[in-house]
Parts: sequence; C-alpha cells; structure tokens
Amino acid sequence: MKNHLENILVSFLDYLKEGLIVIDSNKNIQYMNSYAKNLLGIKNPEGKLFSEVVKNNYLYSLISADIKKELKEEIVINDDIFLARVLNINGMKVIHFQDITPFEIYKQAKKDFVSNVSHELKTPITVLKGVIETLENEEEPEIIKTFLKKAKNRIQQMDSLINDLLILAKLESKEEKIQKKEVKLRGLINSIFEDLKDVAEEKDVKLINKVPTDSTVFVDEKKFVILMKNLIENAIKYNKKEGSVTVESTLKNSKSYISVIDTGIGIPKESLPLIFERFYRVDKSRSRNVGGTGLGLSIVKHIAEAHNGKVQVESKLGEGSKFTVILPSGE
Ligand SMILES: Nc1ncnc2c1ncn2[C@@H]1O[C@H](COP(=O)(O)OP(=O)(O)OP(=O)(O)O)[C@@H](O)[C@H]1O
Ligand SMILES: [Mg+2]
Repeated sequence: MKNHLENILVSFLDYLKEGLIVIDSNKNIQYMNSYAKNLLGIKNPEGKLFSEVVKNNYLYSLISADIKKELKEEIVINDDIFLARVLNINGMKVIHFQDITPFEIYKQAKKDFVSNVSHELKTPITVLKGVIETLENEEEPEIIKTFLKKAKNRIQQMDSLINDLLILAKLESKEEKIQKKEVKLRGLINSIFEDLKDVAEEKDVKLINKVPTDSTVFVDEKKFVILMKNLIENAIKYNKKEGSVTVESTLKNSKSYISVIDTGIGIPKESLPLIFERFYRVDKSRSRNVGGTGLGLSIVKHIAEAHNGKVQVESKLGEGSKFTVILPSGE
C-alpha cells in the first residue's frame, strides 16, 4: 500500500508545473521532479552533490543558507522570475519553486499604466493652473481669449483621455456584450467622413470612400464606428498636406476585409509591433503636435478581437500606411 501511494505521489510531483528538489544534510540530491530537471537541464541528479549539477547561484545560496524552518525568496532561473521556498524538515531541505513571471509582468504593466495616466493628466492640469494664474491678473480681452482657448484645448484633451480609458475599461472587463447586426458599410464610412470633415479640411487631406454600395458588415455598430473612426482619424492626423485617405472593402473566404489607406508619414518597421500597445506613440515629439495619447489603436485592437477579428498593418516610411480590419462576415 505504501509503495503504491509513493508511486502515485511521485507521478503527481512529476505532473506539477512547479519545481521540487530534496537534498540531504550533505547537500546531495535525493529527489528532483521532472519540471525541475527540465528547467535546470539535468538528467540523473539523484545521489549527486547539488553544487556539481545545479549551476544556478540563486538556488545554491538558498540551500546554503542556515534555515530554521522556512525561507521564501524571489529568484531568477533562465531569465524568468520564480518564487522559491526552502523548508527544513528533519535536516533535509525541500526546495519548491514556482514561475511567477506572468504575474510580475502584469504587476509591471499595472504600474506603467498608472504612471502613464498620471503623466497624461498632469501635463494639461499644469497648463490649466498657469492659465488661471495668468487670467487672474489679465484685463486685455485678446489675451484672455487666447488663454481661454488654451484652457479649452487642454480640457478637451483630458476629456478624450478619460473617454478612451472608459472605453478600454469596459472592453477589458467584457462587461458589455457585443451586439452584432448587419450594417451597410458605405453609409457608415460616409458619416464618419462627415464627422471628420473639418479635421481633414484643415490638413487638406482628401477622403475617398471606395466601399461598394452593397457592402455590409456584421458588427456591433457603436463599437465598430469607434474602431473605424480611430483608424480614419489616424490616417488624417499622420498624413501629409494634400494627401488622401481611402477606405475600401472586399469579401474573401467568408471574411470582410476593410482597409484604411493613407499617403502619410508611415511607421518605422521597428515600431510596427508596438503601435497597438496602450500609450505607445512613435516619436513622442512628432506626435505631440497632433494631440492624442496613444490609446486609439489599442481600442481598435480590442474591438476587432471582441468581434473575433484582427487588424493588420503594412507601412512604408515616408509613403503611407494601410490598416486592414479582418472580421467574420456572418454571425
Ligand atoms: N496611419 C498612421 N500613420 C502613421 N503613424 C501612425 C498611423 N496610425 C498610428 N500611427 C502611430 O501609432 C501611434 C499610436 O496610435 P494611436 O491611435 O494608438 O495613438 P494616437 O493617435 O497617438 O493617440 P489617440 O489616443 O488620440 O488615438 C501614433 O502615435 C502614431 O505614432
Ligand atoms: Mg489615434
């Protein structure tokens, strides 16, 4: 019975995605489970001296420490972060370690997020404070007007940041269900063009709708408008003077392909994998002139994924970019 139970326990320890090593008082390895062997790249460690087979300084210093009962520490193995526990049981040491890298990455992302949001809010608030101080002692109507305009712009900036954050939070919590219906694409693009007419005119950018009249998409209309508006807004913002933005669509293998093509400044190759990250902006000083916080494309990605779709991007620096949304064409 005891042997049978032992076999079961050993199989179970080999099945664990956590490392387990047992060493005796002479620092000889008595047991190592499969996960620990694979991770440390060791084949038959039983009976050998720990320091001879385990080439990891963190683990070595852990087992060398004088432990009364238990020791808990974060250590690094093969560039990943592990939470290691060493237990002293009747002179034998049991070392248990667990990969906590995903948790650490999540913690870091959360920290970065809070610091990015604080930074993005701090800048307009500092400007607003300055504006108010100036207005307190200013009587010249023209100057007052200029400063009020400045204040309005900054308030708008904070407003759109908070709007984007709320959209992202809702998408991430999956609190709102995607409610798909058939939507005529050409008309939807025309109304987004209408909304962005002034921005395009200001930049002398031509808006071209090449979507066939009978083209339809199966989407949550409100969210899909947010997605397309973000792509078209970018295509205008990062365009050249007298450039153009073209929207086209096709249906292929039961999928809708909707592309936004611009003749703008393009995106450097090394930035392409990063542009969908929250707060990422290519060349911050270049982007500062055009406003925005770098949340637009992460919203785009989330909405596409919520529709079981994706977004592809092709770009040539100095020539332009093409963002293609690929969605299932039916339910
Ligand atoms: N069509 C485009 N052409 C060139 N660069 C682009 C284009 N679209 C996005 N980018 C780059 O990718 C970055 C991220 O875009 P994203 O839409 O997420 O943020 P944003 O436009 O800077 O701010 P906002 O939150 O207002 O959308 C932009 O800052 C810009 O550098
Ligand atoms: Mg944007």
